Amino acid sequence: MNRLSVSAITLLAPVLVFAYYSPQQTLPDLSSCAHQPSVYSCENTTVIKNTCCSPTPGGLVLQTQYWDTWTGFEHKGQVLPEGSWTIHGLWPDNCDGSYEQYCDFSRQYDPNPSPTALPNGTVIPPYHGPGVDTFVKEFGRYDLLRTMNQYWVSQGSPNNAFWAHEFSKHATCTSTFDVACYGPQYKEHQDVVNFFDAVVRAFKYFPTFDMLASFGIVPSNKTSYPLSQIENAVFSQTGAIPYFGCVSNGTVLSEVWYFNHVYGTEQYGVYKTINSTTASTCSSTKPIWYYERNPGSERSVEHPYYSR
Ligand SMILES: *[C@@H]1O[C@H](CO)[C@@H](O)[C@H](O)[C@H]1NC(C)=O
Ligand SMILES: *[C@@H]1O[C@H](CO)[C@@H](O)[C@H](O)[C@H]1NC(C)=O
Ligand SMILES: *[C@@H]1O[C@H](CO)[C@@H](O)[C@H](O)[C@H]1NC(C)=O
Ligand SMILES: *[C@@H]1O[C@H](CO)[C@@H](O)[C@H](O)[C@H]1NC(C)=O
Ligand SMILES: *[C@@H]1O[C@H](CO)[C@@H](O)[C@H](O)[C@H]1NC(C)=O
Repeated sequence: MNRLSVSAITLLAPVLVFAYYSPQQTLPDLSSCAHQPSVYSCENTTVIKNTCCSPTPGGLVLQTQYWDTWTGFEHKGQVLPEGSWTIHGLWPDNCDGSYEQYCDFSRQYDPNPSPTALPNGTVIPPYHGPGVDTFVKEFGRYDLLRTMNQYWVSQGSPNNAFWAHEFSKHATCTSTFDVACYGPQYKEHQDVVNFFDAVVRAFKYFPTFDMLASFGIVPSNKTSYPLSQIENAVFSQTGAIPYFGCVSNGTVLSEVWYFNHVYGTEQYGVYKTINSTTASTCSSTKPIWYYERNPGSERSVEHPYYSR
């Protein structure tokens, strides 16, 4: 190799590093977590002092998903992923089932806060700035953005607004995404991108479509299923019964919430699935419809569980 090509590589290297996938730019600083006992969240027997190491008090972590049959934004290319449920979010419940929301107005990016006010009447200020997709782009995470657009699909609003809602309502109340957890080198929006990565990772733990399909439960406009059959399929794969949500008087399947205790952080720790603390809104006596989607509302995508 001659001198010229060596210096060309030296000059190009930083450009290449910047252009490629670089999640390390958004990592929290967890080095101090080595100094405290690690436990499953909600199962600690002593006080958790460093709340960057374990979600506290929101240690009951819900990975939530939707089964939608349309988006309302098909004309803009916002369609559902074939062969997969979609992401709703990753929520911190307190260990007793109560929860906090919109905990940090300095990280309020939701254009349409819902609810519009906190329980004590404080109005949550709507956000008017650039979309949260620009935050992901700031860190060069086009890979993440692509996965989010494929699997984190909103119904009745642009995906962007939905992602912002999920971050500001829920992640600001999840201690492992606190700004302080990123150390003195914190870069604005690093927590947002780190949360989005964590949401995608948690979603991949729970392949609802495949779990059901492997038990013969597939979307159908001709055949319905009893709730017990749906629950048993998932119980046999996760060891716990999630919350299944239905609309139309408990007869049309639309949601699932997986409840977990987390060993370590919500970002990188191990999830232990536990039974739902919320009663199903699906009928236990009437047949449940798991509808096929409108053909124009879905498209084939790379399989979510092998995409990275
Ligand atoms: C678990 O940790 C939390 C947060 O520090 C604390 O409030 C709670 O009392 C702890 N639980 C027990 C049983 O010590
Ligand atoms: C309302 O509750 C929030 C969150 O607990 C708190 O930060 C705020 O100070 C409260 N406002 C009033 C007026 O009590
Ligand atoms: C729900 O059931 C009630 C009583 O059977 C009925 O009046 C109502 O129309 C049903 N609603 C829907 C959305 O099917
Ligand atoms: C979860 O629910 C199932 C079904 O009701 C039950 O068999 C199991 O014991 C429950 N698990 C725990 C840990 O309570
Ligand atoms: C199945 O039924 C649902 C609900 O009525 C409808 O939205 C959807 O278009 C139907 N899908 C097909 C493929 O017919």
